[in-house]
Amino acid sequence: FFPPTPTNEPVRSYAPGTPERVSLQKRLQELKHTPVEIKPIIGGRELATTRTETLHPPHELAHTLGTVHLGGPEEAQQAIEAALKARQDWARMPWTERAAIFLKAAELLSGPWRDTLNAATMLGQSKNVHQAEIDAACELADFFRFNVYFMARIYQDQPLNASGVWNRMEYRPLEGFVFAVTPFNFTSIQGNLPTAPALMGNTVVWKPATTAVYSAYFLYKLLEAAGLPPGVINMVPGHGPDVGDTVFASPHLAGLHFTGSTDTFRRMWRTIGQNIDRYHTYPRIVGETGGKDFIVAHASADPEAVATAIVRGSFEYQGQKCSAASRVYLPQSLWPRIRSALLDQLSEVKMGTVEDFTNFINAVIDKKAFDKIVSYIEEAKQNPNVKVLFGGRYTDAEGYFIEPTVLEVADPKHRTMCEEIFGPVVSVYVYPDARFEETLELVNTTSPYALTGSIFAQDRQAILLATERLTDAAGNFYINDKPTGAIVAQQPFGGARASGTNDKAGSYLNLLRWVSPRAIKETF
Ligand code: ALA
Repeated sequence: FFPPTPTNEPVRSYAPGTPERVSLQKRLQELKHTPVEIKPIIGGRELATTRTETLHPPHELAHTLGTVHLGGPEEAQQAIEAALKARQDWARMPWTERAAIFLKAAELLSGPWRDTLNAATMLGQSKNVHQAEIDAACELADFFRFNVYFMARIYQDQPLNASGVWNRMEYRPLEGFVFAVTPFNFTSIQGNLPTAPALMGNTVVWKPATTAVYSAYFLYKLLEAAGLPPGVINMVPGHGPDVGDTVFASPHLAGLHFTGSTDTFRRMWRTIGQNIDRYHTYPRIVGETGGKDFIVAHASADPEAVATAIVRGSFEYQGQKCSAASRVYLPQSLWPRIRSALLDQLSEVKMGTVEDFTNFINAVIDKKAFDKIVSYIEEAKQNPNVKVLFGGRYTDAEGYFIEPTVLEVADPKHRTMCEEIFGPVVSVYVYPDARFEETLELVNTTSPYALTGSIFAQDRQAILLATERLTDAAGNFYINDKPTGAIVAQQPFGGARASGTNDKAGSYLNLLRWVSPRAIKETF
């Protein structure tokens, strides 16, 4: 059999007066005013714990969305046991049955569950309607559908035969359980990290980010409604080591699927290394981590297009996409036109809550992020070699609001050109037109990361030069487009260097990491 050939989920506009807008606004209010109690879900059962925290929209701190019960070592141990128990049936289930569950999840998500996942992402993670739609509805449905399609392709790949023998490849799940640790910034990544290994027959302990546990809960409910059996994915909200230490000490850990910070990933990798003698099998380690994503323009670039790419690439979702542009290299000759287009476009941008659909900028995720971003802005204001061209103001009176901020730096190695800020701050360095090649060298060597980047140019030689010189500087490289917004199956996503293991999400390459194939030879 072969599953239906997928297409990417169409993006809805939610334009004023459309029924889709009315329906989403209604659901947003319903969710907002129906507090939830989120508990670890282990073996399909919701288990209360003694440590709770309240949940607030980052843009409206006075409002309460509900309560989360945090898990610790005990819940982590229970989740491991539930995963190992569920594995017995799940790993044996024909792949078509597993596939059908995720195809159904995609249908539910593109239909009756769409408003719920979008509203939860808007309220819990402070995403505007468009950012929620391309993430929680479209990208997540795409992951479900395309992963099924990639899985079927993998299973069809069979070895050669010689006369008198029949060779087969059996794509077994890993022997043990997979630990999925998910970030706050994409509900779709939050969905993909536990479900991609699960689709391949693995069972999972899933630790969502505490800052995104609100949408994680509804995501789990969606999977349950699609028929995911109890214990296949076990959700344990909690603070890193409270859950992780127990998980990493288990001899049955067979894989880690992670998206988050470089520091956390390295810490986990070290822990796995220290525990290596305990494990039955070498755990697969797959991680997407930090970024310092770039835009570089050549003198032949279209200045309007560059300005638009900076506004959208740096500031959509408050610059909290792993793919967001945060360092920009512009040629002297184009700078006046790019600057004026940039300032014009930014002057139109509105900031506020997600309930007003005209707001482009909403709040950053939490107090820790707010303080870190603000410290970079304050330092820039004090530094005589940095000009604040736009923005620079902030308030946490009602929510964590920071204006989109453009810095012009005299030193291309200034810390805002090198360090990951993960917020609505972009640094611009203006280079003499004649130094394009040297600038490419700077782009390549300034940061340890290599996730996304863009070249803007009309001159083919310039495009070619940038493509060659920046070969390893970005796992996702864009020519005349912003560096954000990779689409599942169109631009497989991931980077190398300090940005991750580059096991491309949204392609068959990622799914290959979750199988431990058996080659069978039968002689007649
Ligand atoms: N798909 C997301 C982006 O490329 C990760 O921005």
